[in-house]
Amino acid sequence: MTDFIPPYPKRHAVPLGPLDTLNHLRRDFLSIWPENAFERQFMSEKIINRRIFIANCPDVVRHVMVANQANYEQKSPLMRKMLAPLLGDGLLISDGALWQKQRALTESLFTIEQFAGYGDKMGQVIGACGQRWAKFAEGDIIPVLPEMRRLSAAISSRILFGAQLDERQAAQLGQCFTDYQAAAEQMDLNTLFGLPGWIPGIKANKTTKTAKVIHERIDKLIAEGGNSTAKNTLLAQLLAQQQAGSKQVLTRGQVRNELITLFMAGHETVANMLAWVWYLISQCPTVEQRLHDEIAAVLGNRPAIFGDVAKLHYTRAIIKETLRLYPPLPILSREAKAEDTIRKRHVPAGSTMLVVPWLLHRHKLYWEKPDHFIPERFLPDAKVVPNKFAYLPFSVGPRACVAKHFAMVETTLCLALLARQFRLRVPSGQTVTHECRLTLRPKDNLLMQISRR
Ligand code: HEM
Repeated sequence: MTDFIPPYPKRHAVPLGPLDTLNHLRRDFLSIWPENAFERQFMSEKIINRRIFIANCPDVVRHVMVANQANYEQKSPLMRKMLAPLLGDGLLISDGALWQKQRALTESLFTIEQFAGYGDKMGQVIGACGQRWAKFAEGDIIPVLPEMRRLSAAISSRILFGAQLDERQAAQLGQCFTDYQAAAEQMDLNTLFGLPGWIPGIKANKTTKTAKVIHERIDKLIAEGGNSTAKNTLLAQLLAQQQAGSKQVLTRGQVRNELITLFMAGHETVANMLAWVWYLISQCPTVEQRLHDEIAAVLGNRPAIFGDVAKLHYTRAIIKETLRLYPPLPILSREAKAEDTIRKRHVPAGSTMLVVPWLLHRHKLYWEKPDHFIPERFLPDAKVVPNKFAYLPFSVGPRACVAKHFAMVETTLCLALLARQFRLRVPSGQTVTHECRLTLRPKDNLLMQISRR
């Protein structure tokens, strides 16, 4: 067990006033919380003229995300506004009958039978990344977050489009998504919190232009994919469902939106998570050593296959603990369709309901040593099993991440295969801190020194 407490933003002794809250929100979504937000169970804040509810304990999270989910199915309208230019009516922001149809189709792309094939492709892409890293000189400084974005873009691209894009083209496509997100994140957080529009909003022009570039690229890939004989890509599977003429069919435009949604949803989240993991293990020699021992025992020097993931218990525990401390999506936002009563409190129709993994994952009632990095708490023989409504990096209920098992396989293989070859260290004198807008990531690209093992 380690005694390492990784950095987190200052917590305020008393709740901030409305103007201070807005000032903090402009810089960082995680710096607004007072100390007692990590102890309270159901909160309601008035920011400007709007009441916001925060589900901050397992039973209320269960109510919002599962039991009365139909009332909280809609993503906040402004979140949809932010993502719609890129995703159209894609799965992440759709609802109702369309969401059900898209969800069923997308789930069919992530069944357990497909994972062996996905694992092989991931292994090849990670191997290519290892070959590229091997060209760095001992002690070179590399920007870990962009490197992880490049890796996750290459994996998503291989799974979605097969060999249609090479690694450089996949990186370029990934960069377009990063640019879109950067432009969309310029929108203020009043978007997430449903606040009035007088604070400058989303940079509509930049997002529209970037979305257009992405749409054109994906349309071209669909046209080429339609003519290709490659059958085992997600693109081919979506097109095949279209040709099969089933009732569940998506239009060509919807196929495009789904491909874009899958790329976007998996790109930044996976990259952020992997960047944090490199930082965390670099600070804890005992964790790193145990990781190396497990990789040597399970994999030796042979290529990894999907079946190895289940045996890499400690590697997965490190990943789960990283997702607890730094959930890539730290705030989930919903809108109440109809009025509701929760813990005897009236929740008016149209209220914003937040479920905040950032708070729940460090909540003093549900975690021992909540701010410590302790991968052992996620080992199969851990004494306390984390409450699934207090640990939700992939969310929970019908709208939970459709690719959560895929993401666990992907991140486990990335960590195991790269940590087998390389070690990364934070250069002395450099401090690591976070940045949080829509997603939570290390600030300033996370520069680290690479060395071979
Ligand atoms: C560590 C990696 C990942 C994390 C932490 C993560 C987390 C999440 C979370 C929290 C949600 C719910 C969002 C909300 O309620 O607003 C979600 C939804 C979703 N995720 Fe992931 N995700 C990850 C990787 C992926 C990957 C690799 C893909 C695709 C290949 C993906 C595709 C999706 C999609 C399509 C949805 C929308 C599901 C729906 O609304 O029905 N995610 N993810």
